[in-house]
Amino acid sequence: MITVALPKGRIADETLGLFSKIFKQDFVFKDRKLILEHMGFRFLLVRNQDVPTYVYHQAADIGVVGRDVLEEKELDLIALLNLGIGKCKVVVGSACNKAIDYRKPRVKIATKMPNITMKHFSKKAIAIDVIKLYGSIELAPLVDLSDGIVDIVETGTTMKQNNLKIDEVIMESSAYLIANKNSFYSKKHAILDLQSQFQSLLETMGQQ
Ligand code: PRP
Repeated sequence: MITVALPKGRIADETLGLFSKIFKQDFVFKDRKLILEHMGFRFLLVRNQDVPTYVYHQAADIGVVGRDVLEEKELDLIALLNLGIGKCKVVVGSACNKAIDYRKPRVKIATKMPNITMKHFSKKAIAIDVIKLYGSIELAPLVDLSDGIVDIVETGTTMKQNNLKIDEVIMESSAYLIANKNSFYSKKHAILDLQSQFQSLLETMGQQ
């Protein structure tokens, strides 16, 4: 049995769609169930940011998670394959009518990704105060909670509708298939087999 942690929402649906194509069977969670067992796999539906935690502690052998979340969590995990789904960017943003004033002694940045944020600004030798938020990050500069934000942009609609602009792109992200190190050695054959099936499927889909 291989346990797979999936992030609730569109990425879980798309990943299950890939499993359905590979095994020519439907992989579907029923109602509000958080566990699905099918064809030798046990799928767990977890919060996006929690996927690396489940895999790191081996509650799941493998998982699917965005590169942004992986970088933020800084856990020792194996990245097996870029699935090319869930594409987004991590950006520095600010209000359209008010650029971030980097001459200030400390710049306030609101984010739900403090590690990525601190790394980015320390590389540039800019002193910042991180204001940790859990959502609606775009609101912070509009009400002077912060000078700028570090956040995820997917379609760009949220920033646009709130009169924010992208100042810098910190990283491009997409969903990766990841593995726990111990599971990778103890279930190497099954995990590598799955990885190569995913890879061939993605190549075929890319050619269509
Ligand atoms: C992310 C991000 C933005 C929004 C961007 O939040 O924090 O608010 O999506 O998407 P857009 O560019 O397509 O408008 P998400 O919806 O993932 O919610 P979360 O704060 O619960 O992680």
